[in-house]
Formats: sequence, structure tokens, C-alpha cells
Amino acid sequence: MTKKAHLLGFIQHGVNSHATGMWRHPKDKVNWNYARPEYWQHMARVMERGLFDAMFIADELAPYNTHGGNSDPIVKYAVQCPTHEPSTIAPIITGATKNLGVGVTLSTAFEHPYSMCRRLSSLDHLSEGRVAWNIVSSYSKSEWDAYGAEMTERADRYGRLEEYMELCYKLWNSWEDGAIVADKASGIYADPSKVHEVNHQGEYFRCKGRHFVAPSPQGQPVLWQAGSSERGRDFAAKHAEAIFAVHPTIARMRQYSDDLNSRLKTKFNRKLGSVKLIYGVQTVVAETRSEAQAKYERIQSCIPPEGALAWMSGHFGLDFSKYNLEEKIQNIEVPGIQGLFESILYARDGAPVSIREAALIYAQGMGMPVLVGTASDIADKLELFMEEGGADGFMLAATYTPGCFEEFVDLVVPELQRRNRYRTAYPGKTLRENLVSNG
Ligand SMILES: Cc1cc2nc3c(=O)[nH]c(=O)nc-3n(C[C@H](O)[C@H](O)[C@H](O)COP(=O)(O)O)c2cc1C
Repeated sequence: MTKKAHLLGFIQHGVNSHATGMWRHPKDKVNWNYARPEYWQHMARVMERGLFDAMFIADELAPYNTHGGNSDPIVKYAVQCPTHEPSTIAPIITGATKNLGVGVTLSTAFEHPYSMCRRLSSLDHLSEGRVAWNIVSSYSKSEWDAYGAEMTERADRYGRLEEYMELCYKLWNSWEDGAIVADKASGIYADPSKVHEVNHQGEYFRCKGRHFVAPSPQGQPVLWQAGSSERGRDFAAKHAEAIFAVHPTIARMRQYSDDLNSRLKTKFNRKLGSVKLIYGVQTVVAETRSEAQAKYERIQSCIPPEGALAWMSGHFGLDFSKYNLEEKIQNIEVPGIQGLFESILYARDGAPVSIREAALIYAQGMGMPVLVGTASDIADKLELFMEEGGADGFMLAATYTPGCFEEFVDLVVPELQRRNRYRTAYPGKTLRENLVSNG
């Protein structure tokens, strides 16, 4: 059976997503205000017209403060800043559509599982079962500073996260089928013997109470993960229904998907293919190659070099303002997002890349492969990533919005459909149904 691609649109609830400086582009948000519902409704309708599985909202909880020890360049160059709260737009996105899902990044670091589950179950109801949760645990010190807390070690964060999930599952599974009777004659709304009180006394959390939200259409949100350290990969292989990963070359994609499959099989006894592997890509499409190349160069020209460095400092937890920019990235170890650091380590197949070059590669689209060309060129690459890289689908990083998604939907989607590599209608109602189907 020909594998068909899943597509998601990768954005943030802010002025700029993952292409640094893009807010300066003459085509960015013309007559749209990112802080208003109309913009999100429009983006959602475009993605639904393109039969995307979901709009995927990245997030962080505070401006990065690693570069030079402060957040000045982050604020100055709009490096993922300002960023508004992500779950607030979920009902706007799903309210404007019938089938499009929404992935929401929510950190477990400062929120108790009880309120996290309540929020996600409520969103699942409001969307009729179209919500995914991108589970993160706050890798950035700025988030801990903003919340007035001491940052914990990665191992501890993952230990806590395990218990976090254990408690979430208890809450989500605590209402039995048939618990709601809603019998007006007797006045009985729900059968208390079927709504179990959760009593959790763990190392990190305590909880004694019933889940406050009636069972939602999906029961629990689709669980999404992007952890990429050893612990992160195990966590994803154990819990995730879909993984978001960034790899710049097919060889790295292949290694990643082999590694995931081996963890699924040998460590967690899960079926191969039970976790969808979604790779990040950025596309610049036009009717001709030369037009696409010109567009790409115009996009690149928007990147502010200091903002690019500050973004790397934020994601990787090192202050690159203190480094010689000619130093090779391969000689450096970082405490921050491991998986994304690898995207620049292997940007040139592992050949040395200086910090200066790495910052520009990274600022373009977080180290994702950048596919520049006609719809047919781009479809060729996506097919290759599916066939040889193990991709089940793609997270499309924004350049200028909403234009980049409109162009992709108008040009690349029909090309993928012509090749029988993409759906022509939504196969299911819920996000989970759409995600698990081939096409
Ligand atoms: C492609 C990708 C996207 C990510 N997006 C976010 C995000 O939006 N917000 C966030 O807090 N962390 C994000 N992360 C960070 C991770 O989910 C994870 O928490 C972090 O990498 C630390 O785990 P690790 O050490 O196992 O990689 C992302 C990571 C990757 C690889």
C-alpha cells in the first residue's frame, strides 16, 4: 500500500513563528493581526482546505534570557516573542472548522496534572475530539526564572514527567462507560459508583478527587512528543501517539526511525507504526525554480544575525555571545534541546559548521530541511522522506503567514494528491482517527 502523508501546520500564537525575522517580510500578515481571532480562523480554514490533520502550536513560557544573560535581543528582534498563551486559540481554530485538529504545547513544569487534565478534556469537548497535547517539561531556564523556581536536571524532569503521565491517565480513565445516566425522572445525573475518585500519593504529586470533566470524545488528547535525548526518546516511545522530530538529512531520518522502532519493539512492546513519525520541513514553493529561489533569498534576507544567535542561545541553553563565532559547532556540547542541536550538527552531513553559519541555518527554520522549488520538486523530496526516511508525515514550518500555507495548499497538495500520496477527504471525525489512518 502506498504510504500517504499527514500534514500539519507549525506555528506559534505570536508575531513570529520559527523563521526568525519573518515579521519583516513584505508578505507577512498583510491586513491580519496575529492577536485577533479572524487571523486564526482564516489560517484554520486554509489548513482544513488542504486537509491537514492539525494546526500545531508551539510554545514557551517566557522570553529566552540566555544570550548575554538577558532577553534584550529576544524582545528586540521578535525571536518567538511576544508569544501569547497557546490553548486560548484552540477553540477559535476548531470552532472555525469541522475536521482540522489542533495540537497544543503545554508545559508540565508549573501546572498540576489535575488542572492540565481538566483543561485538555474541556478542549477535547469543545473541539469534538480534535485536540492533541504536545507534552513538554520546560527545557529553558527563562521559564523557571519567570516562575520563580529553581531549574531541575533533565533526569529529574523526566522522572517527574513519568509520574505526571501516570496521574493524568488515572484521571482520564476514572469515568466508566455509562457513568452518565441523565435521568430526569429520578433526578440522577451520574452514577457515583462509576465515577472513581483518584487517590494518588506519589513522589512528586498528590491528588485526591474526581476528574471534574465528563469523558471527552477522544477520552484523552492525542499525545504528542518531541523529546530527543535518551530519556526523551524512551518517553516518546512509551507514551506518544505521534512524534515531532527534525532531521536535516535522509540518513539521520532513517537512523531516528530505526531507533524509534527498536525502542517500540524491544523496550515497550508496542506495534511498529503505532507512533506516527512527523518530520519538520520548511517549504518555499513557486511556479518555477528560479522564482522559488528568489523567494527563498528574500526570506533569508529577513534574518537578523544577532536575533539568530540569541535564538540558538535560548534553545540550546548556552550563551553564544561569549563564543568566537568561527568556532565549530561540532566541538560544543549543549544542555538544551538535544534533538534540535543535532539538526545543525548534521546540517552538512556532519561536516564542520561554524557558530556563525549554524545561527543562520537554524534561524531559517529551526534546522529543518528547507525545500525550495516547484510543487513537483517538493513532492519528490517529501516522497523520498517517506520512502527512505521513515516519515509518516510533515510538520510544515511557517515562513510568512498566512501566505506560505495558502501557497502550499494551492500548489503542493494537488501535486501530492495526483501522486496518490495524500488524502482527498478526511477519513475520520476525530484527530486520532485521521492521524492513525493511511491517508
Ligand atoms: C522539533 C521539536 C520541537 C519542539 N518544540 C517545543 C516547544 O514548542 N516548546 C517546548 O517547550 N519545547 C519544545 N521542544 C523541546 C522538547 O519537547 C523537549 O522538552 C526538550 O527537547 C527537552 O527534552 P530532551 O532533552 O529529551 O530533548 C521541541 C523539541 C523538538 C525536537
